[in-house]
Amino acid sequence: TWTPGNVIAEQVAAVRAQVGDARVVCGLSGGVDSSVAAALVQQAVGDQLTCVFVDHGLLRAGEAEQVERDFVAATGVALKRVDAADRFLQALAGVSDPETKRKIIGREFIRVFEEAAREIVAETEDAGGEVRFLVQGTLYPDVVESGGGEGAANIKSHHNVGGLPEDLQFELVEPLRTLFKDEVRAVGLELGVPEAIVWRQPFPGPGLGIRIIGEVTAERLEVLRAADAIAREELTRAGLDRDIWQCPVVLLADVRSVGVQGDGRTYGHPVVLRPVSSEDAMTADWSRVPYDVLATISSRITNTVPEVNRVVLDVTSKPPGTIEWE
Ligand code: XMP
Repeated sequence: TWTPGNVIAEQVAAVRAQVGDARVVCGLSGGVDSSVAAALVQQAVGDQLTCVFVDHGLLRAGEAEQVERDFVAATGVALKRVDAADRFLQALAGVSDPETKRKIIGREFIRVFEEAAREIVAETEDAGGEVRFLVQGTLYPDVVESGGGEGAANIKSHHNVGGLPEDLQFELVEPLRTLFKDEVRAVGLELGVPEAIVWRQPFPGPGLGIRIIGEVTAERLEVLRAADAIAREELTRAGLDRDIWQCPVVLLADVRSVGVQGDGRTYGHPVVLRPVSSEDAMTADWSRVPYDVLATISSRITNTVPEVNRVVLDVTSKPPGTIEWE
C-alpha cells in the first residue's frame, strides 16, 4: 500500500545505494519540490548533503527566512546561502522587457549556483572527498512531459536556465520521480518539512522580477513585497489558500494615477490582484474572492503602503490572459 512512510523508506534506501560515500549538492528554491527532495536526501545521507540557496532578492516577504531558518531547523540540512540580491538588481537595471528579464534572471541564477557549487567541490576535494551528485525535485509529471530522458544535470527548468558547464557535471538524484504533487506534499509533511513550504502556492522562478511591470528596482521590490504580504495574509485569514491556485500581486510601476489621502492628493501606483483557480496552470479562471476580503486587502494596502493608491482586480480567465502579467 502507498503510504508516505513507505515511499520515504524506499527512497532513503535507493538514495543510499546510489550515492554511497560521495557528496551531494542540492539547489533549494523555497518551493515544495526542491525542499522535499532535499529533506529526503538529508534523511538518507545526512551531512553528505549540502544545500545551496541562492537568494536573488526577488522572493516575497518571509520566504528567505522560511528556507534559512525554518527549513534548516526542521531538517538539519547544511545550507550554503548566497546573498545575490545586488548582483541580480544590477543585472536587471534598465530592463523592462519580460523575456529579457527572464533570461537575465536565469543566467545570473545559474552563474551564482555554479560558483557556490565550485566552492563546495573545492572544499570537499581539499578534505579528500568528491562531489558527484546533484539533487533535483523532478516529479512524475515533469518526467512524462520531458519524455522521460535523463539528460544532463540541469537546474530544474522552472528557473529557466540552461545547464551547468561541461566541467561541472553531476549525476542526478531524483527521489520524487515517481510522485505526483499531492504525494510529494504528504511525504514532505511526514518528513517534517514546514507546512508553509509544503503548501506553498506556485511561485515563478523569476519571482517578483516578473511581477513589477517595468524596471525592477530595490524600492519597487519593497513596495510590491509589502502589498503582496498583506494580500497573502488576508487570503490566508479568510481560509482561501486551498481554493486559490495562486494569487500574483502585480505592481504597475510605470502607471500612476491621482488619488487622495488625508488632506492631500497623491500620484501613486496601482497594484493588481490576480487570484486564480486552476488544476494545472494551463487554463485558469479568476477566483470569486468574497468582496469583504477584497475590501480588507484594498484598504490595508492603501493605508499602509504609501506608494500604492489603487488596488484593482483582474477578472480575466486564461486564456486569453496568462496567470502572470509578464
Ligand atoms: P502563465 O503566466 O503562463 O503561468 O499563465 C503559468 C504558471 O507558470 C508560472 N510561471 C513561471 N514559472 N518561471 C517559472 O518557474 C517562469 O518564468 C514562469 N512564468 C510563469 C506561473 O506562476 C503559473 O503558475
